[in-house]
Amino acid sequence: MIHSSIYHRADTMAAIRLLLSLLTGLCAYYFYSQETLSPFKPPEMVRGKRVLVTGSSTGIGEQIAYEFARMGAHLLLTARREKQLKEVAQKCLELGASSARHVVSDMNNLTSAQNVIEDARNKLRGLDYLVLNHVGGSGRFGPFQGDMAAVTSSMTVNFLSYVQLTVSAMTMLQESQGSIIVISSLSGKEAPFTLSYSAAKFALEGFYSSLRRELRLREISLSVTVAVLGYIDTDNALKIIGDKITMQANPKEECAREVVRAGVLRHREVIYPYWSLKPLLLYPFPIGKGTVITLLHFLFCITSHRMERGKPRRETS
Ligand SMILES: NC(=O)c1ccc[n+]([C@@H]2O[C@H](COP(=O)([O-])OP(=O)(O)OC[C@H]3O[C@@H](n4cnc5c(N)ncnc54)[C@H](OP(=O)(O)O)[C@@H]3O)[C@@H](O)[C@H]2O)c1
Ligand SMILES: *[C@@H]1O[C@H](CO)[C@@H](O)[C@H](O)[C@H]1NC(C)=O
Repeated sequence: MIHSSIYHRADTMAAIRLLLSLLTGLCAYYFYSQETLSPFKPPEMVRGKRVLVTGSSTGIGEQIAYEFARMGAHLLLTARREKQLKEVAQKCLELGASSARHVVSDMNNLTSAQNVIEDARNKLRGLDYLVLNHVGGSGRFGPFQGDMAAVTSSMTVNFLSYVQLTVSAMTMLQESQGSIIVISSLSGKEAPFTLSYSAAKFALEGFYSSLRRELRLREISLSVTVAVLGYIDTDNALKIIGDKITMQANPKEECAREVVRAGVLRHREVIYPYWSLKPLLLYPFPIGKGTVITLLHFLFCITSHRMERGKPRRETS
């Protein structure tokens, strides 16, 4: 009698466990099939839209420009080197951009940043996508030795100029019910030997996730997508850290595609490569607070992606 009830309980537990794993599987299937089946028609959604990409003379910014160009957007490119910008603009036209202009600007100068937005106003007559991507400053890879000038410079180029561009473009972006795409990094969590860079990325996440929430509470239809990137194979990244880590760099073309896709679909966040979170998740012991937070954050990311997906947007221009 006692035995059979114990067996009965064991059976029930086994059944519950089976049910739970089935449920988890179903949920996972639901989420992922939603992702792959989502009605993403990029060219139709982007053709004729006005896009500003900062730091587009090379690297990920250049690839983001090409992605938008293939979909027939109007492009405004900016960075410091004019020759490179001209070449990228030319290639954008070849790829199918509706137009491709450039403006030279040093983001270490906030007035110059403001002028870039003026250019967008004058030449594009508005803005649908503001892609904040440039990275610079005087900081070098190495132990932090109290170089305040490097911190100030990184915060100006990699954080304050982003905010300045956003502030100046706000009216245009609200008018178009547009999108801000901010390029951040896993280094925004923690990155030894690049402290001032890490600080700027961390600041970006605070500012832009709060801005996103605030816009939502104020019922302003302007999406904010933060791209959290792992190690990408741009020339500069390979030069700076290529010989210092054993990790494989991920292709900048695919990176740009994922970032643009998330921006167009108005996702709140995109993590590329997706598996950059895996090493954190796989730490078996000790499971500290950090791991739990990472796990929760990860779950939060994948669930909220679904919730923010595919909001209708008004046609502009
Ligand atoms: N590559 C990676 O592994 C990686 C990883 C995580 C996150 N990210 C992020 O991805 C974004 C792009 O990185 P990337 O590897 O493509 O960088 P990159 O190849 O070094 O390109 C940086 C861009 O920013 C411009 N720039 C630099 N200083 C500037 C300044 N003072 N004013 C205006 N423009 C300036 C550069 O053009 P000019 O020199 O012509 O001005 C260039 O177009 C950055 O936000 C970076 O933090 C990259
Ligand atoms: C910043 O840019 C503005 C506008 O381009 C320019 O007039 C000013 O001299 C620049 N400031 C510095 C310190 O270079």
